[in-house]
This record gives sequence, structure tokens and C-alpha cells, in this order.
Amino acid sequence: MVVLVLGSAMFQLYRAIRFTILFALFGSSPAAFSQINPGSIRKELGSERLSSRGTCAWWSDFLGFRKHFAAYEAAATPVPRLVEAANGVVLEIGPGSGNQFSRFDKAVVSRIYGIEPNEHLFNQLRNETIEQHHLSDIYVPINAALEDKNILKEWNIGDESIDSVVCMQALCSVSDPTMAVKQIYRLLKPGGQFLFWEHTASQDWMTRQVQGIWNLLWKPLIGNCHLRRNIERAVVEAGDWKIIELGHDNIEPWQMMPRVWGRFVKV
Ligand SMILES: C[S@@+](CC[C@H](N)C(=O)[O-])C[C@H]1O[C@@H](n2cnc3c(N)ncnc32)[C@H](O)[C@@H]1O
Repeated sequence: MVVLVLGSAMFQLYRAIRFTILFALFGSSPAAFSQINPGSIRKELGSERLSSRGTCAWWSDFLGFRKHFAAYEAAATPVPRLVEAANGVVLEIGPGSGNQFSRFDKAVVSRIYGIEPNEHLFNQLRNETIEQHHLSDIYVPINAALEDKNILKEWNIGDESIDSVVCMQALCSVSDPTMAVKQIYRLLKPGGQFLFWEHTASQDWMTRQVQGIWNLLWKPLIGNCHLRRNIERAVVEAGDWKIIELGHDNIEPWQMMPRVWGRFVKV
């Protein structure tokens, strides 16, 4: 029995390490490697980019990773069609490096507010990415977190002001996912939709333990990204929803990043 448990734990740890090594190797371009030198690492470790306010900057410099990940999302996930379903006044939580920009349907969107607390990523969006995707006329980047209600109010983002909230892999790094989804619920107009795709805690007890251990390293390196949050519960319990779609991917018991995604409408 002990051998079985230890063997399973070793296997899980191997998978976690392998994922990180693959991320580092294939997620990088020569440009990204040139960013990773002792000076820049020291700078990042010393800066608040590694704090709870957002993804660390080196993540965004992994250009190769971004490209491969966007292709993976397109080929194997519901992300493109979820983003495409956004309409009216849209709030994008944590746009990061703008992975979702090409997926918005400009014919049905009147305005997109992108709230990005990471200053490095925010500046990239504001100075380059929005224009590259021909979104300058509708995309408004805001250097704030979802929790910064006063800043959001300055942009008239208040209760029942939003038609669609797009949230792709952001609830893992907000300070409190339960409060965050309640806040999203309040911001939505009745009939407004919440479109999300998030990684979540494993259903498997052993894998959950490994997620917890791996989190000790993962969280500070990947901008407060938590591997072991129960996102589905936070979303379902946030308010009265009509569930149009609710899906789960990567559900094999050994997966370190099982996904939950959906399209929920505020009743
Ligand atoms: C893993 S990235 C996802 C980026 C993008 N949504 C995508 O699909 O590629 C998580 C993003 O959430 C942002 N973020 C973290 N905490 C946040 C908060 N409290 N409010 C809004 N955005 C937040 C991070 O700065 C980062 O850009």
C-alpha cells in the first residue's frame, strides 16, 4: 500500500515537473531566452510583478509559448467560440498579452473594457497589441484589478452595466475567486452572460495533494496562479444563473490542470 501511494506520488510529481520543463523549452523563443538572465530574474523577483497583482512579466515574454498556447486553444478547446459569443458591452478580466483579441466578433461588440493589473502587460496592450488587432476603436484597457471597484466606477463599470464578461484563465490568480465571481455577477446586466475557461482543482484526491505541493513553487513563479481552486463551485454559487453550457476537459485523474468552462446567463 505504502509503495503504491509513494509510486503514485512520484508519478504525479514527475508529470508536474515534466510540464514545467516542457513549458520552459517549447514555450520559449530565442527572444524570450534573452530576457532570462540573472539580472532580469533578480529584477522580477524583487518587483511587485510577482505579487498577487498579476502574472509576472517573464511569462508574457515567452512569445513562443503564447503562440503555441493560442494554437492549442484554437484546436482543442472551446475558448474561441466562447470569446466569439461575447456581445454588447464586454468586460475582459485579465487580458494578459491579448491572446483573445483576434476572437472577438466586432460585428456584435460595442465596447470592450480590458482590466489588466499587471503594468508591464497593460503597457504592451495599450502601446501595441490593441492596434495590431485593429481594436483601437472599441478596446479600452484599464490598469486595474477586478477588485479595484473605485477605478472601475470611473469608467462607469458598476452594477448591472455589462452585457458579457470574458474570463479566460484569470480566476486562478485573483485574490479571492468566490468574491471575484460575485463581483462579476453584480456587474452583469440581467440577461448578461459570463463566459469562462479556467483550470481548477483535480477531482482526484492524490492529484489534489500534488497540486497543493506544486503550488508552493508554481504560485510565486506564475503570478499568484493557484492550481487547486474549486472554480466551478465559486461560479455556480455566485448567483442565480441559467446555465447554457458547462463543460469539463482534461478530466483524467492524473491531470494537473483539469479545466472547467461555461456560458452562464444572469437570471
Ligand atoms: C494566465 S493570464 C491569462 C491571460 C489571458 N486571459 C489569456 O487568455 O491568455 C491571467 C491574467 O489575469 C490577470 N489578473 C490577475 N489578477 C487579476 C485581478 N485581480 N483582476 C484582473 N485581472 C487579473 C493577470 O495579470 C494576467 O494577465
